[in-house]
Amino acid sequence: MVPAMTNLPASFGGLIGRERAVSEVRTLLGSGRLVTLTGPGGVGKTRLALEVAAQAAGGYPAGTWLVELAAGTGEADVAELVPAAVGIGDSAAPGPLADRLAGALASRQLLLALDNCEHLIGPVAALAERLLQTGPGVRIMATSQEPLAIGGEQLWEVPPLAEAEATRLFAARAAAAGPGFTVDAGNARAGASICRRLDGIPLALELAAARVRALGCIRWPAGSTTGSGCLPRASGAPGAAADAARDDRLELGAGHRAGTHRAAPAGGPVPGRGDRRGRPGAPVPAARVH
Ligand SMILES: Nc1ncnc2c1ncn2[C@@H]1O[C@H](COP(=O)(O)OP(=O)(O)OP(=O)(O)O)[C@@H](O)[C@H]1O
Ligand SMILES: [Mg+2]
Repeated sequence: MVPAMTNLPASFGGLIGRERAVSEVRTLLGSGRLVTLTGPGGVGKTRLALEVAAQAAGGYPAGTWLVELAAGTGEADVAELVPAAVGIGDSAAPGPLADRLAGALASRQLLLALDNCEHLIGPVAALAERLLQTGPGVRIMATSQEPLAIGGEQLWEVPPLAEAEATRLFAARAAAAGPGFTVDAGNARAGASICRRLDGIPLALELAAARVRALGCIRWPAGSTTGSGCLPRASGAPGAAADAARDDRLELGAGHRAGTHRAAPAGGPVPGRGDRRGRPGAPVPAARVH
């Protein structure tokens, strides 16, 4: 049996939206050899990279290899994780791993997906630069909250989900977490408000949707004049007029801003649209990082 030329997960759930993003990133990968998907924590860089890698996999005879760097803590981890992902991580062989990796990739056409690089920018950038110099058939797609800042890097800033897509993601996750949950006329407005307040950040939307399960309802803050204290999951929801009056006091939005997001500074807000570099969803001219 021919071994699979990829280590991508067999399945990673449906992608909501992002059709244009996938197409643009694939185009950039075709025109250059290093594309970095940037953006704040939880915006969907990894998920988008997985989709692009899966769709592009057939175009790389020597394979498409995902290198998950989130757990890495330093240069030594980068030097081990990348060769291991490509399948040349035999530590018994002589010579530094980085040298052997560069030698092995010199004549291969392959795609490396270097995921979650932000905490290892220096070593990842150094290795990527070397592999791109010594291997003309090597292409790299990185995900990172910050650019690698090496020559030839094409930056593509991942935007938040548009409102309609954010609402679809929230509804899908809430339905998966709390059987019986559906978006209906009674709660659609509240759901849309949550999605807006979470700035279309997929991770925040997933965390909020998980709270629907934990609480069994969408709760209103203490002091609410509703009396009931919650918006039922599927039926019996307050009417649209009451929703409109209560939207401004949704507790879920406050929870997100209080630091439930994994990439937010302690106790601080998740970076909003205004915190990001460049125009969301647009390639950032490489000249900006040199
Ligand atoms: N378009 C999408 N459709 C469905 N799920 C998505 C989408 N975008 C992101 N997600 C989900 O949202 C969560 C956060 O996305 P992801 O991990 O890709 O963010 P990230 O930008 O890589 O975050 P970090 O900077 O922390 O690495 C994941 O569970 C992911 O599967
Ligand atoms: Mg990621």
